[in-house]
Amino acid sequence: MIKKLYNTNTLEKSELIQVIKDNMDSLDPKLLHYAAKTREKYYGKKVFFRGLIEVSNYCKNDCLYCGIRRDNDKVKRYRLSKEEILNSCKVGYKLGFRTFVLQGGEDGYYTDEIMVDIISTIKNSYPDCAITLSLGEKSYETYKKYFEAGADRYLLRHESATVEHYNKLHPSNMEFEHRKDCLYNLKDVGFQVGAGFMVGSPYQSIENMAEDLLFLKELNPHMVGIGPFIPHKDTVFAKEKAGTVHMTLLMLALTRLLLPKSLLPATTALGSIDPKGREKALRIGANVIMPNLSPVDNRKNYALYDNKLSTDSEAAESVNSISKSIREFGFVPDFSRGDYIHWKR
Ligand code: 5AD
Repeated sequence: MIKKLYNTNTLEKSELIQVIKDNMDSLDPKLLHYAAKTREKYYGKKVFFRGLIEVSNYCKNDCLYCGIRRDNDKVKRYRLSKEEILNSCKVGYKLGFRTFVLQGGEDGYYTDEIMVDIISTIKNSYPDCAITLSLGEKSYETYKKYFEAGADRYLLRHESATVEHYNKLHPSNMEFEHRKDCLYNLKDVGFQVGAGFMVGSPYQSIENMAEDLLFLKELNPHMVGIGPFIPHKDTVFAKEKAGTVHMTLLMLALTRLLLPKSLLPATTALGSIDPKGREKALRIGANVIMPNLSPVDNRKNYALYDNKLSTDSEAAESVNSISKSIREFGFVPDFSRGDYIHWKR
């Protein structure tokens, strides 16, 4: 079945479920082999760097798993000013980053006007850089304005492609259908789009994971963010179990085989539950790394889950030592924009 997946880049739902079941205890070496081979076919040994700027932890949503959910009144809320964001870009540019990822909660402060101004200022200051946004669900018009202002990519994890499961992770005012519309709108506007999901989130079944993979296959995004669910102490899911490294690696490998050209980050969440997590992810087909460029004092407040890494191996200031480890793992740090292969705006 793995050979078939490698050759055709697709499987039926029942086959995907079988592959997941067959690899629950240990990963078939063939999976590792073919996933790594597939990544090499298009991107070689390159590992692309993105500088992550966590612009705001205000959020109007109340996702049950997320540490910065609206109802968590223990969070010290912050929002970066335009100057602070630009300063992070300046620091990042000097460190060599050519992609800036502006991520934040759904913060009503950022009207279209304010965001368009921020995006176009970054673009004018750093025309050789890509701008990625990760700011949640917006209207088609807003996405279009962001794109026209110079944003190139947009990350919006679908979180779960099974409606019943999606509903167990989100309050009733959030809907999978709407999220899906947003993802298709983003593609239509012209963005390089990223979807994705957490592995091992509460109530997630094997079938749910197969649905997530099939949804990714159908959407065919350029990027896919996959990391383990990790409980946060001040959320509804405080007492739930975290997802495992093993299952996360399995989902990464299957995603690499289903979407051979995708850009797949070795996520901070994975690095947070296993010091070797990112290395393992790179070996199984991940090819992106997103060190934190946010102002150091704000980092601890952008806690989506407990024990989130934000220093050393996750921090942009450590770019030299991160690059060194990547070389030691046998990969090649790449500081170009790192667009999706064959991408043209
Ligand atoms: N554990 C792991 N990932 C989380 N995210 C939010 N909360 C958690 C958590 N507790 C992920 C979501 C979101 C992304 C920015 O972070 O998938 O889309």
